[in-house]
Amino acid sequence: MSPLHTKPEMRRPIMKICVLGDSAEQRAEVIGVLRAIADPKMEIAETAVPDSGSMLDGKLVGNGTAPPDALMILLTLDDEAPFTFLHRIAVSAQRPALIALMPENAPTDLLRRAVRSGADEVLFSPLNRDDLTRAIIKTTEAKYQAARRRGGIVLSVSSLTGGIGVSSVSINLALALGVSLGRKVALVDLDLQNGTLATNLNVATDHSILSVVEGDRSPDSLKVEAALTRHGSGIYLLAAPRRIEDSELVSDTAVAMTLELMRAMFDVVIVDTGNHLAEQTVVAWEESDQLLYLVDQSIASTQRAVRFNELFTRLQLGSVVLRLILNRHVPGYPITAEHIAQALSRPICARLPRDDKAMERVELSGKDLWRVAPGSPLARGFEDLARLLVEPASASAPRSTTAMSRMVSAFISRRRGVADEAH
Ligand SMILES: Nc1ncnc2c1ncn2[C@@H]1O[C@H](COP(=O)(O)OP(=O)(O)O)[C@@H](O)[C@H]1O
Ligand SMILES: [Mg+2]
Repeated sequence: MSPLHTKPEMRRPIMKICVLGDSAEQRAEVIGVLRAIADPKMEIAETAVPDSGSMLDGKLVGNGTAPPDALMILLTLDDEAPFTFLHRIAVSAQRPALIALMPENAPTDLLRRAVRSGADEVLFSPLNRDDLTRAIIKTTEAKYQAARRRGGIVLSVSSLTGGIGVSSVSINLALALGVSLGRKVALVDLDLQNGTLATNLNVATDHSILSVVEGDRSPDSLKVEAALTRHGSGIYLLAAPRRIEDSELVSDTAVAMTLELMRAMFDVVIVDTGNHLAEQTVVAWEESDQLLYLVDQSIASTQRAVRFNELFTRLQLGSVVLRLILNRHVPGYPITAEHIAQALSRPICARLPRDDKAMERVELSGKDLWRVAPGSPLARGFEDLARLLVEPASASAPRSTTAMSRMVSAFISRRRGVADEAH
């Protein structure tokens, strides 16, 4: 099935869950409830509470390779060992999500100790399948998102309107971030069939994304490094394949792996995803922290943006922030930024002015915007946008789960359990 028709969560890895507790009977009860959950898909292992050594290896899940994504620990009134274990895992560097399971009538003190020992969620016996599903999704999803965010940020630039400025915006944003803000930046040309970034940047490329994805070995950082071309400004380019037909060799899985590797190597990775839909485009969007969609002051581009907006909703790219950028903005034109924002029910995040003269000089001279028109409204527009994208207001930063909020959610799930029983 193509990624266009595959929901992102369908490509989530199978969750590895390990149930820990000294009572085999209680473990079996929990596993019975876990097995009745169809989504997320889970690989379940069980063990008694280990008393020493490193507990985060693959042995807990039986495959000997990866540590579990979540640990479910059975806590009892009279046994200290599970609390000690919980605490040790909670303070370890690569901790799994921790879900504590408490006896039915556990006193508040025990709940407090579980939270203080580091449990992300606390559930009570008898286990309710819906509560358990919710707890697993909540804890493992938060962990998955945090892991994705390790390293730099990935920004995709897209539009369904051709010639609107996707490549120009990708390049100038990269230059603003690299030259003006001093970030380590890479550009990826995922408009595989057009592949204009190397020409636009006026660089000769020996390699392209093809060198990363071809061969028997899957992409790794050495391959990526060897495939990059350095631009005079200090930014890097991962070019599109030289031959149009080779774009077919770049699979969506390879694109996802390449972007993840590049996220770890750079502060910012900017992906030109071109002006049409392709499987690789959708994967790039999915890997992105922010998707910059370009519109101009035309009815046609606004209509396409409405269609794109609907697609974006259908694809359920939940954690990807969609930002509308108005390019070639001309103040006083009858179709205003407000009209476009209204039609799309989304705010316009930035307006980049139309500057035909500067862009023409860029194209004819082979020099970049900061060399031909430093300090111009267009160059400043890119610098402002660059700052907005990488230095978001603190209010939009993700909030961490505090012990207090975990406690509140534990109380809520406990009360829900009581209410369910009453019915
Ligand atoms: N803000 C702007 N002002 C004036 N011309 C622009 C602006 N942005 C892009 N252009 C010009 O529009 C043309 C198409 O841009 P390009 O980036 O190649 O579009 P796309 O990648 O969407 O096909 C280029 O000639 C470029 O110089
Ligand atoms: Mg282009």
